[in-house]
Amino acid sequence: MLPYGKQTIDEADIQAVVDVLRSDWLTTGPVVNQFEEAFSDYTNAYSATSVCNGTAALQAAMNALGIQPSDEVVVPALTFCATSNAVLYHGGTPVFADVSADTLLIDPEDVANKITAKTKAIIAMDYAGQPCDYKALRDLADKFGLFLVADACHSLGATYDHRPVGGLADLNCFSFHPVKPLTSGEGGMVTVNTKDPKRADSLTTALRVFRNHGIQSDHRSRHHNGQFEYDMSQLGFNLRLTDIQCALGMSQLSKLDTFTKSRQEIAAEYIRQLKGLPDYDPLVQLSDRTHAYHLMVIRCRSNRDHVFQELRKRGIFANVHYRPVYQHSFYQNRFDTSSARCPIAEQAYQEILSLPIFPGLTREQIKFVNQALAEMTLGVPMSA
Ligand SMILES: Cc1ncc(COP(=O)(O)O)c(C=O)c1O
Repeated sequence: MLPYGKQTIDEADIQAVVDVLRSDWLTTGPVVNQFEEAFSDYTNAYSATSVCNGTAALQAAMNALGIQPSDEVVVPALTFCATSNAVLYHGGTPVFADVSADTLLIDPEDVANKITAKTKAIIAMDYAGQPCDYKALRDLADKFGLFLVADACHSLGATYDHRPVGGLADLNCFSFHPVKPLTSGEGGMVTVNTKDPKRADSLTTALRVFRNHGIQSDHRSRHHNGQFEYDMSQLGFNLRLTDIQCALGMSQLSKLDTFTKSRQEIAAEYIRQLKGLPDYDPLVQLSDRTHAYHLMVIRCRSNRDHVFQELRKRGIFANVHYRPVYQHSFYQNRFDTSSARCPIAEQAYQEILSLPIFPGLTREQIKFVNQALAEMTLGVPMSA
């Protein structure tokens, strides 16, 4: 059975977790700070704040920006629903922008079409692991006085214009789910990188207070300072990541470059082998950025659903990322989505397929997948 993605865990990861289990602090302990510091160093960001998953990272980001019911936030149509749900949690309105046909990344031209007097922020999502056009998006954000947020849940390890993902937008959100570039079981992070360091400082504080019930101090700081009093100054949540998870995340971070290189080599091999198969097109990889290849997405020229089922019969568990968010029944039932239509995202949803990719996938396994695709091209009349 070949899944579309999975974690890569070694003995060092296991030992790092065991070390925390033997220590005094399972949560709010020193390893949380160590992971956050290592992460902000890696991404060249002003700060990094850990949270319990990528959804919480987006939720905390929307809170830090003060998104409220009168606000609109432009989001890509082709993304995981967590991207736009984060806007809804704060009563804001997600406004869907279409994607570019060749990369399936949010199209800055369509973003510009969707900006109104109510727009407060843009969330870009680095689909499959390739960074969006952050230069064009930054120009738009600056022109209209908007915050730029990166949903970078796919792209940790990639770079744009030689700059690492995590330092490209004002707020950058990550997920450490097992299929992602690195894992902590469940987990997430928000990095801050605004031009103005004062704003970066206040956004970082907002993120940290929000993840801790709306309280400034945590259990360990009060323990060290010998105080019991605290004040809850705003409504927050418990979105904390434990030391156990941070230990795994930090151990994984030390191997991230190796993981990324392996994913890039696997993608290059897929692309090389797919050249002989005219029914399948990989997405375009742009030359001014590197790709983290969280997903290996191809477009099937005919009958994607048949290809999906046939691969499954051979033990190849491909996947589809994503149905345009506004097509989900929750969005259809609650909002007037008639003006949300994004034709490129809708067409892509009929054709895309995510093939297995994870560090250590062998050349033979890639060949096995490509041979299965080739058999369907040659053997089965897919348009029937
Ligand atoms: C693009 C995107 N955004 C947000 C999330 C949410 O992350 P998590 O599953 O860690 O909550 C995911 C993960 O599936 C994702 O792929």
